[in-house]
Amino acid sequence: MVTNNEHSPPFRLLRLNEIDSTNEEAHRRASQGEPAGLLISAESQTAGRGRRGRSWVSKPGNLFCSLLLRPVAPLATAAQLSFVAALAVAEAIRSRLPTGADGRMSLKWPNDVLVDGKKIAGILLESRTDASGRLDWLVIGIGINVAHYPADCDFPATSLAALGVGDRENLIEDVAAGLNRWIQVWQARGFAPVREAWLAKSYGLGQPISVALAETTLSGRFETLDISGALVLREADGSRQLVAAGDVFRV
Ligand code: BTN
Repeated sequence: MVTNNEHSPPFRLLRLNEIDSTNEEAHRRASQGEPAGLLISAESQTAGRGRRGRSWVSKPGNLFCSLLLRPVAPLATAAQLSFVAALAVAEAIRSRLPTGADGRMSLKWPNDVLVDGKKIAGILLESRTDASGRLDWLVIGIGINVAHYPADCDFPATSLAALGVGDRENLIEDVAAGLNRWIQVWQARGFAPVREAWLAKSYGLGQPISVALAETTLSGRFETLDISGALVLREADGSRQLVAAGDVFRV
């Protein structure tokens, strides 16, 4: 069943029951010419996907959504939208927690949202460029653990229910409002305020970390984010590594 909700500005909200993946549905619609601004949510996904080729367990009760955008920007710049999304999702989750919970929220590079050091939400950006290399569309996929979380992950996880606030009411609207707000900040002022807000909540900043890459693991101190959003790692021999993709662990 599909319902269109006309009352969720600024995006056109399309609520689905079951789908393979809200990101995949956004791809299909983007390829058929769907304009920017479609936000697709689903009750469950049969082929939910996570970063780095992993699957995303998508049973009913959690939140799964994807926002289709058509940024007029180079792909490297548009990729900054993953940090924009992480800030929006963190705010929506934070608003459900009791007063004084700011310090419990953190953001793990590149775009996981943590509460009490455990992952509660993940973000997956996917995009397509046309034959001339111009960005055609970009999809921001968001999964929030509301009712449950996976037990068998490399990194500990949690859910809103486990934190005593497992109510999904208005969560998609809060995420949409936050996305809209932070996208406007990014469009008007660029990456600098996004980077600053993200760094203020960053998990492991200044600390010794390891970063698991596809073939190897790097170790060093998490120095900062560079102006493109890459992680700057200072290795023991003093060398500076820019990391574009990987999984961060504190050591
Ligand atoms: C991660 O690995 O942390 C990113 C997970 C992203 C999952 C969301 S759920 C909605 C959207 N559709 C998908 O198939 N994946 C993203």
